[in-house]
Amino acid sequence: MRSEMEKDILKVLVTEEELKQRVTEMGAELYEKFEGKNPLFLGVLKGSFVFVADLMRACQLKSNIEFIAVSSYENATESSGRVRINYDLQQDITGRHLVIVEDILDSGNTLAFLKQYFLAKGAASITIVTLLDKPARREKAVTADLAGFTIPDEFVVGYGLDYAQRYRNVPYIGVLKPEVYSNH
Ligand code: IMP
Ligand code: MG
Repeated sequence: MRSEMEKDILKVLVTEEELKQRVTEMGAELYEKFEGKNPLFLGVLKGSFVFVADLMRACQLKSNIEFIAVSSYENATESSGRVRINYDLQQDITGRHLVIVEDILDSGNTLAFLKQYFLAKGAASITIVTLLDKPARREKAVTADLAGFTIPDEFVVGYGLDYAQRYRNVPYIGVLKPEVYSNH
């Protein structure tokens, strides 16, 4: 497929094939854990939109999907530490078993905030699923219950993850060339 974005990619960290295989495994693991429990998948927008679509189809449970949109980055590559809700839950989550689906666990600010927020709203249980885990940069004591890949301390794009709202449709996880940031 032709791509306008490929020339901006320095290297591929996780290939399409590796993503597919791991997401299939993660779906099977969640099936075992939640069979008969009617979980509510909660996708954290925008970054998780590709992952949550694939993960839900890899997990053939009777389940529902809900979304919340948060931001903390303001077009930079480092978290500002503050989390803002841009689009809130559209349903009551009291008593529900939540499966929070994130693209990446980095500083932990987002998930630490969301976990508290959902518990305060009455969730029965919270399971944190993240595609990527970058433990080197953790500021809050948050751990994922299920993580796809542990990655080094590099800023990545693709499979939903962006840089300045671009590259979300790159089908693999990659690292951008340094000049892409300096030309921004
Ligand atoms: P945290 O709050 O620092 O854990 O960051 C969570 C959010 O920051 C993620 O949902 C991403 O949207 C964004 N983020 C963190 N690291 C990266 C990265 O390497 N590439 C793209 N987005 C990232
Ligand atoms: Mg995000």
